[in-house]
Amino acid sequence: MELGCGDGLLTEQLRDRGVDPITIDRMPPTAGTIAAVVGDAIELPLCREQIDLVVAGNLLRQMWPLPEGAPVPDGWRDALAPAGCLYVFEDEPLSEPPAARHYRDLQAFLARLLPETRRPLLPLATFRRACAGSPGAAGWSFGLVDNGWPVDRQDVLVWLARPDLCAGQEAARLVAAIAADGCSYGRFWWARWSGEDLPR
Ligand SMILES: C[S@@+](CC[C@H](N)C(=O)[O-])C[C@H]1O[C@@H](n2cnc3c(N)ncnc32)[C@H](O)[C@@H]1O
Repeated sequence: MELGCGDGLLTEQLRDRGVDPITIDRMPPTAGTIAAVVGDAIELPLCREQIDLVVAGNLLRQMWPLPEGAPVPDGWRDALAPAGCLYVFEDEPLSEPPAARHYRDLQAFLARLLPETRRPLLPLATFRRACAGSPGAAGWSFGLVDNGWPVDRQDVLVWLARPDLCAGQEAARLVAAIAADGCSYGRFWWARWSGEDLPR
């Protein structure tokens, strides 16, 4: 099951690797998603203890900070079959090269501009703190990986030049920074939970 599938970029990667997920998104296909199920991933519209693999890529930041009492990510774990596992992926904002910092700043800028649909990047450390106190916390493992997926710098610059959206000093600063150093995803973080990994 893939939560927050959007236009299916990650779905395509999963399918290439032999996994054909049930796709869920709060936005319908008429809004450009490939969702087979339209629903809110905060309250999973499906079953308990039946899913082998639950994946949420670039979704969690859209929900952060989580509403008080939101059953995330614990509720996602409840959907898992006994040997199932949950993967969460997000772009890491604390990446070092200037091009990755520009990508982080761009996302923060867009989040201020379009708060309904864009959110700033979510650091792994913040997610780890949120997981630490919950039951089953010992089942999590975490990691950071370089993200070599190319960012289309020209596309970003054209977008930032749109006067209706982006006029202002901050856009100008970002344009200059990206023109000088480029823009890259830097690293992404992954978090994996499996009941199999709990101490027995
Ligand atoms: C940045 S896109 C990620 C697309 C895809 N997962 C990927 O990595 O290529 C985030 C998607 O999450 C969806 N989304 C945001 N909040 C959601 C929620 N509470 N429940 C379900 N989908 C949600 C948005 O509609 C959007 O399609």
